[in-house]
Amino acid sequence: MLEPAEIVQRFLLAKRQVHPEVVAWIREQNDPGLVDRILRETPDDVVVVSRGAIPSIRPERDGVRFLADPLEVLEGAAGSSSPVTSIQDYVHYFRDRYTRLGGLVRSRVHAMPIEALVRTSRYRQQECTIIGMVVEARATAKGHRLIQFEDPTGVIPVLFNKNRPDFDDAERLVPDEVAGVRGKLSDEGSLFYGEQILRPDVPVNHAPFLSKEPGKAVLISDVHVGSDTFLPDAWSRFADWLDESDEIGYLLIAGDLVDGIGVYPGQERELVISNIDEQYAEFGRMLEDLPSRLRIVAAPGNHDVVRGAEPQPALPERFAAHLPGNCTLVENPAVVSLQGVHVLMYHGRAMDDLISLIPGASYDRPGEMMEEMLRRRHLAPSYGRRTPIAAAKTDRLLIDPVPEVLLTGHVHILGLCQYRGVLGVNAGAWQSQTAFQKQMNVNPTPGRAVALDLRTLVPEVHDFS
Ligand SMILES: [Fe+2]
Ligand SMILES: [Fe+2]
Repeated sequence: MLEPAEIVQRFLLAKRQVHPEVVAWIREQNDPGLVDRILRETPDDVVVVSRGAIPSIRPERDGVRFLADPLEVLEGAAGSSSPVTSIQDYVHYFRDRYTRLGGLVRSRVHAMPIEALVRTSRYRQQECTIIGMVVEARATAKGHRLIQFEDPTGVIPVLFNKNRPDFDDAERLVPDEVAGVRGKLSDEGSLFYGEQILRPDVPVNHAPFLSKEPGKAVLISDVHVGSDTFLPDAWSRFADWLDESDEIGYLLIAGDLVDGIGVYPGQERELVISNIDEQYAEFGRMLEDLPSRLRIVAAPGNHDVVRGAEPQPALPERFAAHLPGNCTLVENPAVVSLQGVHVLMYHGRAMDDLISLIPGASYDRPGEMMEEMLRRRHLAPSYGRRTPIAAAKTDRLLIDPVPEVLLTGHVHILGLCQYRGVLGVNAGAWQSQTAFQKQMNVNPTPGRAVALDLRTLVPEVHDFS
C-alpha cells in the first residue's frame, strides 16, 4: 500500500495538489495503477484533485460514494467560475464543447473528419458518419431540413428529407449543439444526405447510484422573495410540513431565491421589498425558521444579484451573510452529492431558448426540455440567445458525467421526467402568476415541493398551494 506522503508526492510531481479524502480513498483501493489513471483523466485546468474532479475516482464498484460528509459539492462550489473578462475565450470554449461531446458520440461510432470526406471522390455515395456542431438550421422551400455542420476540419451542408421516418429528430437540431450524422455524400460531393442523428446522449445502460443509507431531500426553486406575488402562506405550510418530516435531511433550491431589482422593466411596481439587501435578509429569515437539521444548498438564478452569464457565481459574501450557517451556496450550475446521489442543479434559463427552438415544445411540459438537455448532454446548447454564457476554457454547461437527478426551475411549472435512469425535476415556484406570465400565457404551478427518497430516487410531489 502506498504511504500518504508518496501519493501526495506523485500528484505534486504532476503539478497537482490532492485532497486528503482522495489520498485516503486511493490507499483503500490498493490498486497500483490508480494514481496514474487519475492523473491522466484529470482535466488540465484542475489544480486540486478532489473526488468530484474526475468521474473514475467515484468508487462505485463497492457501492461507496462518500467517505466523510454525506453532502459534498462536486462541481460549482463557490468561487470556481472564472470572472468574465473583456475578451472571452470563445475558441477554447467551443473547442472544449466539441471535443467532449463529440467524444461521447465517437465512443459509439467511427466518424470521419469533414475535410477527409470531401477531399476525394472515394467516399461519394458511401455510408459514413460525421460529427459536427450545428452552425445553422433552417427549413428548405420544400419543407426539408438543411443544417450546416462544422467540425475542426470543415463545414458541410446536411440535408434531411422530410419523408424520412426520423425527420422529427432533425427538426430538433438546434444551433451549436454537437451531434453525429450518419448518411451519404452526394454524387458531386458538396452535400451530405443525413439519415440518422447520433446525439451524445445518456448511455442506454446507465444505472443510477442509489444511497444505501436512508435519507430524503426536498427539491424546490424560484422562491422570488420580495415580489408581491410571492406566496407566504404556501411557504409557511411548507415550513410546517418540514418541521414534521424528520426524515428529510436536505433542501436544494435551484435559483431565483429573491425577485431582485431591475430584472425587467416596471418591476418596481411589483415589489413589496424594493431593497436587494432586504430581500436576501428576508430570505435568510425564512431559511432560519426552517428546521436546523436541514442541510440547505442554494444556487442563483437570473433574478438573483450575481451576473447573468452562466456559469453564474455563488452569492457574494455581502448577501451570503444574511443566510444561516446550514446553508451552502453554490454556483449555477452545480453538482451536489447527497449520500452519493449526484444532483445536477441548473436554474434552467436555457429552457426559454429550447422552447423557442424545438417544434412542439411548451412551457407547460418542462420535463420534455430536460430530456432534450440530457440527449444533448448539455444544459444550454444554443449560444447567443436569451441565455448569456460566459465562455471560458472549459464548457461548464456540459452534462458530464451523467447525474442521478437533474433539478431545474425557472419556468415556474412543475414537471418531472424519467430519461434512461435519470430523474428530471423541474420544481415549480413560490410565486403566483405575474403580469408578465399572464401576458405570455404561462400558467405557473406554485407551492409544490418534490421530496426525493435517496434510496429509491422515487419523487413525491407535495402541494402547499
Ligand atoms: Fe423564477
Ligand atoms: Fe428564472
